[in-house]
Amino acid sequence: MMADGPPAEGRWVEVGPLEELPVDRGVCVEGIAVFRVGEGVVARRDACPHRGGSLASGRVVDGVVTCPLHWWRFDLADGHRLGAPEIVVPERPVDVVDGVVRVLVPPPPPKRSMRQLLLDAAHDDP
Ligand code: FES
Repeated sequence: MMADGPPAEGRWVEVGPLEELPVDRGVCVEGIAVFRVGEGVVARRDACPHRGGSLASGRVVDGVVTCPLHWWRFDLADGHRLGAPEIVVPERPVDVVDGVVRVLVPPPPPKRSMRQLLLDAAHDDP
């Protein structure tokens, strides 16, 4: 499944053959959780919106992944938390080429100076 929006920057990283992906859990590739769902794949950020648990390590049942840390559950099709649809795990671009799954890994964020880090922290502090 491909994410909507403008062409994304980054580099495509191979995950492996689609038929070898597990069906009951995800695979983490450079911070991206890749799940086999039905006949296809979906990729989402591998960080639970609650406290950053690895969703790739969670159990998948009927297209729903359960975070292994505190049991929040997310619908893999749209990324929404069950019972709290305002909480969403962002989707990442993924595709299958000749039976091999690959994900688009975004470029690393630009480095910030110590001055900028301190300014940002000061703005975040109420
Ligand atoms: S970190 Fe996922 S439910 Fe708490």
